[in-house]
Amino acid sequence: MKQLLILGAGGMGKEILYTAQHSIGYGTEFVVKGFLDFPNQDWDTNVYPPILGIEDDYKIQSNDIFTCSIGNVHLKRKVCEKMRLRGAMFQTLIHKEANIRENVKIGEGTIVDWNATVGSDVIIGENCLIQLLSIVGHDCKIGNYSRIDTQCVCVGGVVLQDCATIHTGAVVSHKVVVENDATVAAMSFVIRRVKAGTTVQGNPAIKVDY
Ligand SMILES: CC(C)(COP(=O)(O)OP(=O)(O)OC[C@H]1O[C@@H](n2cnc3c(N)ncnc32)[C@H](O)[C@@H]1OP(=O)(O)O)[C@@H](O)C(=O)NCCC(=O)NCCS
Repeated sequence: MKQLLILGAGGMGKEILYTAQHSIGYGTEFVVKGFLDFPNQDWDTNVYPPILGIEDDYKIQSNDIFTCSIGNVHLKRKVCEKMRLRGAMFQTLIHKEANIRENVKIGEGTIVDWNATVGSDVIIGENCLIQLLSIVGHDCKIGNYSRIDTQCVCVGGVVLQDCATIHTGAVVSHKVVVENDATVAAMSFVIRRVKAGTTVQGNPAIKVDY
């Protein structure tokens, strides 16, 4: 049985624990071993698996697999790349009640949460996060490390390049491209290409400089 380690013991880590425990293969292919993070005196080990120390100090065992709960996509990429160089393998987590349609490709380490829908012919890269109740429409392409928060819609044919962040409740319209490292603010409606590294917000979404 593979032993799953969750990188990050924050709020998102607890969410991903629950997702992992309700994912395809849990209890038959893998179980949760613990979290990797700094010690936390308030951590309730009666409720949650233990924090086993920070990832840099952890000696990877042959049956270990990993998932990453870091919300910031750039920090997530840094930590996951570092762990991969050390030989870490990442578990793909598909919630048992996610809706995955025909001919979908999902990269290693990606998480598809409860009642997220992934449409036909979608390609999702590595270490992405598709949170609960979001919809990734047919023929979308989602780049590595991208993050789609709860109740977002990527309409058919949308392209998210690597490290794109789509915050809660945003809608990205048909065939729109969100370039590398770009951010879409919560509740936005995106109708035009979002340039690399920029943030857009509103309806219609326009570039903002906070
Ligand atoms: C894109 C985003 C990250 C920008 O955050 P930020 O850089 O911290 O900006 P701030 O929150 O300081 O907001 C700056 C200004 O924009 C406004 N603003 C921020 N986000 C907004 C939004 N989505 N819609 C409308 N106005 C918004 C704020 O009211 C503020 O206005 P003010 O200067 O007049 O007070 C933020 O808009 C966002 O979407 N956050 C994500 C929330 C979320 O979904 N989290 C998911 C957790 S799982």
